[in-house]
Amino acid sequence: GLQYHPEVTHSAEGMETLRYFLFDVCGVTAGWKMEDVLDEEIKAIGDRLHCVFVDNGLLRYKERERVMETFERDLHLPVTCVDATEQFLSKLKGVVDPEMKRKIIGKEFICIFDAFAQDMEHKFGKKPAYLVQGTLYPDVIESCPPPGSGRTHSHTIKSHHNVGGLPKDMKLKLIEPLKLLFKDEVRALGRILDVPEAFLKRHPFPGPGLAVRVLGDVTEGNALDILRQVDEIFIQSIKDAGIYDSIWQAFAVFLPIRSVGVQGDQRTHSHVVALRAVTSQDGMTADWYNFEHKFLDDVARKICNGVRGVNRVVQDITSKPPSTIEWE
Ligand code: XMP
Repeated sequence: GLQYHPEVTHSAEGMETLRYFLFDVCGVTAGWKMEDVLDEEIKAIGDRLHCVFVDNGLLRYKERERVMETFERDLHLPVTCVDATEQFLSKLKGVVDPEMKRKIIGKEFICIFDAFAQDMEHKFGKKPAYLVQGTLYPDVIESCPPPGSGRTHSHTIKSHHNVGGLPKDMKLKLIEPLKLLFKDEVRALGRILDVPEAFLKRHPFPGPGLAVRVLGDVTEGNALDILRQVDEIFIQSIKDAGIYDSIWQAFAVFLPIRSVGVQGDQRTHSHVVALRAVTSQDGMTADWYNFEHKFLDDVARKICNGVRGVNRVVQDITSKPPSTIEWE
């Protein structure tokens, strides 16, 4: 019942991925225990697995601490955290074009991975050979339309940071075991592999991070800081209302405009933020989420009262299509 696109079956790399995937699927169907398969895999890689988490300065409120804690405490994986904030933000200074932002970010990630690999080489004396990325099928479809789909590169919707931005001269070989799967399928696989539920249910977050949620130049003023505070209030309110798991993705967007307001009898000329929440099966299409009025009212008040520099909150009520989920 599985169907594969010619792009997959006509390339050696695609066939290799397919082989591994079929091995997993058949193994499960045939009643093999995934733990046994996995144990063998872990033994095969052993202490040659080196995880790296890159803080690109475009993460959400306390994201670095939270992700590191999950990796270490719940997944028991050895992770090195690289703070590359300056490196990313200096490259993004003055850049307003969404595609340009995505390409710059994709390229910087690879520079960091290459440098990390060199570090490993110095430490362990052996050259690391592979980079494992969590690319999903929609990333591939939206970045580079498969042959036969009727779309061409001029129809690229957006270059996902992990696909369209990769430099041709990258030294590491790429492995993308999830490249043929949609998010809901990855979550199902995660369940089989006993990945903690809280980790599986996390809303997706794009690799280019807040760079595609601050419209325009991300380094301008304190846009990133404002967005982090607004986003945290929005997400925390969603969790408190018990609706986090009913939503595919929720986030705030920083708009590059100011509006006039009145706060404490004073005229203000401050920032406008948008709230976006959608439901979806696989991210390819989405419907906007219909919050209760009371919820929206409370959130807007909390944001304007709690975040200095914001005097207006609007809600995005478009589906995908015609919009995409992210604004850039
Ligand atoms: P769009 O905005 O294209 O997003 O409707 C669909 C889903 O993909 C996520 N997204 C990305 N994820 N790298 C990623 O890892 C990217 O460059 C990227 N762009 C979008 C988005 O958050 C949504 O879940």
